[in-house]
Amino acid sequence: MAKKIEKICCIGAGYVGGPTMSVVAKQCPEIEITIVDMNEARIAAWNDCDLNNLPVYEPGLAEIVAEARGRNLFFSTDVDKAIAEADMIFISVNTPTKTYGKGKGMAADLKFIELCARQIAAVAKTDKIVVEKSTLPVRTAAALKSILDNTGNGVNFHILSNPEFLAEGTAVEDLLNPDRVLIGGENAEAIQALVDIYAQWVPEERILTTNLWSSELSKLTANAFLAQRVSSINSISELCEKTGANVDEVSKAIGLDSRIGPKFLKASVGFGGSCFQKDILNLVYIARSYNLHAVADYWDQVILMNDHQKHRFADNIIQTLYNTVSGKKIAFLGWAFKKDTNDTRESAAIYVADYLLSEEAEITIYDPKVSAERIYADLDYLNTRSSAENRRLVRVVSDPYEATSEAHAIAVLTEWDEFKGYDWARIKQEMKRPSFIFDGRKLLNRAQLEEIGFNYYAIGE
Ligand code: UDX
Ligand code: UDX
Ligand code: ADP
Repeated sequence: MAKKIEKICCIGAGYVGGPTMSVVAKQCPEIEITIVDMNEARIAAWNDCDLNNLPVYEPGLAEIVAEARGRNLFFSTDVDKAIAEADMIFISVNTPTKTYGKGKGMAADLKFIELCARQIAAVAKTDKIVVEKSTLPVRTAAALKSILDNTGNGVNFHILSNPEFLAEGTAVEDLLNPDRVLIGGENAEAIQALVDIYAQWVPEERILTTNLWSSELSKLTANAFLAQRVSSINSISELCEKTGANVDEVSKAIGLDSRIGPKFLKASVGFGGSCFQKDILNLVYIARSYNLHAVADYWDQVILMNDHQKHRFADNIIQTLYNTVSGKKIAFLGWAFKKDTNDTRESAAIYVADYLLSEEAEITIYDPKVSAERIYADLDYLNTRSSAENRRLVRVVSDPYEATSEAHAIAVLTEWDEFKGYDWARIKQEMKRPSFIFDGRKLLNRAQLEEIGFNYYAIGE
């Protein structure tokens, strides 16, 4: 019989830890869950009475937090206390790409994970099951185990890998109804303890158990395959633009082959998000570290194609606007890396904006969920120009009609549903002529817009 888990601690209250643990708390009301984070502002936001202020926006999440918070779901900055009391500890801290030293720009930075391991080792007075939730390079569990076993207080640690497959924007739905739950580990009892938690709402045949290394590698592989599909269709989108083929028609035609399948074949301005690029870089780095250069080069191409797609989209805007965007107002609809999230990490919009700003364009941005502060921080982070320059050239507004008024061109960077319902005749009226739309998401209705008098460009048409 596996030990029944009564208390869970989750370290990291971000896009993964917050939604995942909220759903576990909802589905397992008898388990007490404390999500901890060293970021005080973030914890305060999770505890805010006004659910509009939660640090992560996900459809359906606020309702779940409202139901479980204070009952069996708690948010706290007291990391030590939560670790000490828990039977099971999830590590959901960020593992960004390293920005310094060996593996800079490629390898995952594991310093946050290591800090967690050391803190757990220092605090734990009872046996713990430690669950890797963050995406990690293969064999990280070995490092974790080594730290835990050598610096601990003689207690037993079992390490499990339980990678997260939720997609942002549909996190709650993905967590409630996952295609599969993957649990890797070496100790049967520890594995069973976690299986028992998921089994409260996930059918057993969808709970897959493997060895630790397969689980860690499957997470990187799943993201690499998904990203590869997007880069593959994006490569075809460029060919479509030259040949008269339509990329949506091609996607549909190939997706009906059950061996290929219809999902993840939507051509776009390029994939973003915190996972795809980071995980592929990681895979490439690991392959190179074993001298598997053919493997590394193969996956590298997925990223090169994605960079090319973003660049090409910006270039098309410049060329179409008579080879200069200097001093021209360009309206951006959308900044998030996909709809229904306020997350902007690696969003294509950032890079498209950066190219256009280097050509002295003046960009006005509207996104329904992203703050001005976030947008400036994203641009400043690139270090392409001074923060003052970014503020001179970029304006962020809270009304789409203000963004598009007097613009030479509109670029659609995120597929927010609300964009489809705008009064496009009014927008046309208030724009400069000729009025251009560059649809990086193939979201809008060509026939309708051309009827109004727009010059409409969409990826892959
Ligand atoms: C292929 C296409 O499947 C078919 O739709 C098209 O009309 C013609 O080309 P075919 O070449 O007959 O058909 O065989 P297929 O089953 O696709 O296999 C091609 C090769 O891939 C074989 O050598 C097969 O062994 C290999 N393969 C296939 C793998 O190595 N792994 C797989 O998972 C699938
Ligand atoms: C991804 C994985 O889907 C998820 O399983 C994993 O846990 C984390 O990484 P996420 O990054 O949240 O999730 O979003 P996803 O829906 O995968 O989209 C990633 C990017 O690809 C977005 O920028 C999206 O716009 C783009 N995309 C996706 C396309 O351009 N075309 C597609 O067909 C699908
Ligand atoms: P993800 O998308 O993986 O959830 P986020 O950056 O959204 O990534 O969230 C990770 C969270 O983990 C951040 O809020 C960060 O403050 C927190 N964190 C990182 N290291 C630690 C640590 N040692 N102790 C507590 N919290 C941590």
